[in-house]
Amino acid sequence: MSKILVTGGAGYIGSHTCVELLGAGHEITVFDNLCNSQPEALARVQRIADKSLHFVQGDIRDRVALLQALRTSGATAVIHFAGLKAVGDSVKDPLSYYDNNVVGTACLLSAMAECGVKTLVFSSSATVYGDPQFLPLTEDHRLCATNPYGQTKLVIEGMLQDLYRSDPDWRIGILRYFNPVGAHVSGLIGEDPQGPPNNLLPFVAQVAVGRRAFLSVWGDDYDTPDGTGVRDYIHVVDLAQGHVKALARLQAQAQCLVVNLGTGIGYSVLDMVRAFEQASGKPVPYKVAPRRSGDVASNYADPTLAFEQLGWRAERGLETMCADAWRWQNANPNGYTVVAN
Ligand code: NAD
Ligand code: WQD
Repeated sequence: MSKILVTGGAGYIGSHTCVELLGAGHEITVFDNLCNSQPEALARVQRIADKSLHFVQGDIRDRVALLQALRTSGATAVIHFAGLKAVGDSVKDPLSYYDNNVVGTACLLSAMAECGVKTLVFSSSATVYGDPQFLPLTEDHRLCATNPYGQTKLVIEGMLQDLYRSDPDWRIGILRYFNPVGAHVSGLIGEDPQGPPNNLLPFVAQVAVGRRAFLSVWGDDYDTPDGTGVRDYIHVVDLAQGHVKALARLQAQAQCLVVNLGTGIGYSVLDMVRAFEQASGKPVPYKVAPRRSGDVASNYADPTLAFEQLGWRAERGLETMCADAWRWQNANPNGYTVVAN
């Protein structure tokens, strides 16, 4: 049982991880500036876990606030989710991505070093593999960014490797997530994108619930079984549990660990549409549209190393991912925002 600072803990993956951390008996302080989340998420995390957490509203670029949160919380480890993640926005405004993600992480690491806190789990992404040279993707696949968002993840991974080389007392876990989807089984927390969703499953869910008329399927002429893009969708609760396991591994042994968190199974866009229709009992009308620039045909993980290193593997299948996403969407059609009638 440890005291843990969770940056970005009010967000989609962070909130689900907080539930798992509290369930595992950890004491947590969430540090989040709420630029892409709402405090209601944390109220619900505490309801699900039936335990309380501490919350500090702050920005990871604010060194003084970070030092204070690290000292007050007594944290011995940090799980670092805070960051911006919209690929399209990062192309339009790269500097804000470098500032928020790269400068923010550098600020966090130096505050941690000053407080003697040297255990960190970091949210990286399969985006660091760029256009796959082979599938499934293993951790030793060459790294390459195809957009500024991906470049910030690459720079941060490099910064963490350099830090570990300079001082092997650091315990660093770099987790490369594939495509997180789904929601907590309670239906109380889930993904709550602001504006039109960039990602497939939240868009499909909003079509099913009647918030949007149809899905645009971006390309049906890829070299895949049905012509639509194939991805490795992973249930967010499986992902959250991966963080608890990674933390335990790092606490047992100082190292710099790099692992994929995925299922190893690829599903196409149309597989997802059909599974969601099945889970929700609602139609998901779609129209085929041109390919989205920057998309690849297929992308899925080799998750073997995560099992070997962490004893972790994804347990929830496609049906559960869609059923849980639908329970959340149906109970909260406008996410955490309550709309007056
Ligand atoms: P999210 O936007 O829901 O959560 C991020 C949280 O960080 C939000 O609560 C936001 O308010 C907070 N935040 C952002 N900038 C901050 C700052 N400067 N200071 C303090 N708080 C800040 O996103 P998510 O989907 O939960 O993603 C979490 C992490 O996982 C991100 O680093 C993201 O890049 C990474 N990731 C996400 C995906 C995905 O598809 N969701 C895939 C791979 C990696
Ligand atoms: C999945 C598939 C689309 C929306 C992105 C980021 C990546 C990572 C995860 C953070 C593709 C198709 C989508 C729609 C569609 N994030 N699609 N219509 O592109 O694999 O990855 O999120 O690290 O960095 O790039 O996920 O959910 O956007 O798309 O047809 O309205 O669904 O073309 O084949 P992607 P996605």
